[in-house]
Amino acid sequence: MASRKLFLLPGDGIGPEAMGEVRKLIAAMNEKFGTGFETDEGLVGGSAYDAHGQAISDADMEKALAADAVLFGAVGGPKWDPVPYEVRPEAGLLRLRKDLALFANLRPAICYPALAASSSLKPEVVEGLDILIVRELTGGVYFGEPKEIIDLGNGQKRGIDTQVYDTFEIERISGVAFELARTRKNHVTSMEKRNVMKSGVLWNEVVTALHKAKYSDVKLDHMLADAGGMQLVRWPKQFDVIVTDNLFGDMLSDVAAMLTGSLGMLPSASLGAPDAVTGKRKAMYEPVHGSAPDIAGKGVANPIAMIASFAMCLRYSFNMVTEADKLEAAIAAVLDDGLRTRDIMSEGKTEVGTSAMGDAILAKF
Ligand code: NAI
Ligand code: MG
Repeated sequence: MASRKLFLLPGDGIGPEAMGEVRKLIAAMNEKFGTGFETDEGLVGGSAYDAHGQAISDADMEKALAADAVLFGAVGGPKWDPVPYEVRPEAGLLRLRKDLALFANLRPAICYPALAASSSLKPEVVEGLDILIVRELTGGVYFGEPKEIIDLGNGQKRGIDTQVYDTFEIERISGVAFELARTRKNHVTSMEKRNVMKSGVLWNEVVTALHKAKYSDVKLDHMLADAGGMQLVRWPKQFDVIVTDNLFGDMLSDVAAMLTGSLGMLPSASLGAPDAVTGKRKAMYEPVHGSAPDIAGKGVANPIAMIASFAMCLRYSFNMVTEADKLEAAIAAVLDDGLRTRDIMSEGKTEVGTSAMGDAILAKF
């Protein structure tokens, strides 16, 4: 059997609490199904800074690079607000993304039937929703040069950010979207603003050309990103996979996420390019939420975002599709049974803590 090396970075705040529930799942899978996961753990964020003055050490970075997948909890908290910018907790996350070259950020928006009634949209609009936003993560306006504030000398200043995309960047991100669509409902919607942006014109051209050359079996639609935002709220079930740039993806994925409920439920994956020899992608899986200092240490954090991130890891890094489906079904079943952590608690349901929620999911798995 191929090796399955996981590197766990629990981080700060509720990160370690949520990761603890995933650790239980890994141990149970190894024991019951002989999955052979090998795990190692490191420090990231504030806890790493406290230990050695860096947001992640070179030694842990080496381990992250050598692993088949990295599971990341959350970093940060008020304790580290005064630390210098270069070593602040978030620097650990940014270094991981950069050094692992994770250019594709996958953000699913799944509506569990038991939570449809608590969405801000009508239940019939979100019930059964299962869409995936593929956001380009390493290019675009967040990184393009020039990027500066210049003094115009007349009492005015000018803030400049530059949106830059090259053909290869658009090709590799849309390639990921087409590949994923083939494992889902075979439909990609590409979003840009070609009506007002040159990078949008190129984006549209490159996606169209790649589709024609390699993915003509997948249904492809193009939508202006602002209209896409409207459609996400009006009738999100029209989408399967949405592929878009860094900036639009940042906003659209947050909108899509909130269609389905609490921060405590939202997983994500970030993928790099396939290795030339092994074909394996570098990958990191993490909940969307932060370290939640307001509830850290109380045993009330919702572990579902972290557990669902592990399900994505099974699916995308190890091609363990059956197990991933089963784990997601176990989450849905526990919610159907009425178990709720405090963040998703509603009338008539049973409130449980982090560990009891993890145990209940494990019991159904
Ligand atoms: P946050 O996501 O940590 O918390 C926002 C609110 O949602 C809080 O009220 C929190 O209690 C609640 N919440 C979040 N996750 C939850 C869960 N699993 N179960 C139950 N309730 C949950 O965002 P916030 O408060 O803006 O940031 C707190 C710290 O986390 C900051 O230091 C921030 O920089 C850091 N952060 C780290 C991220 C990461 O590691 N990827 C992402 C976002 C923020
Ligand atoms: Mg955002």
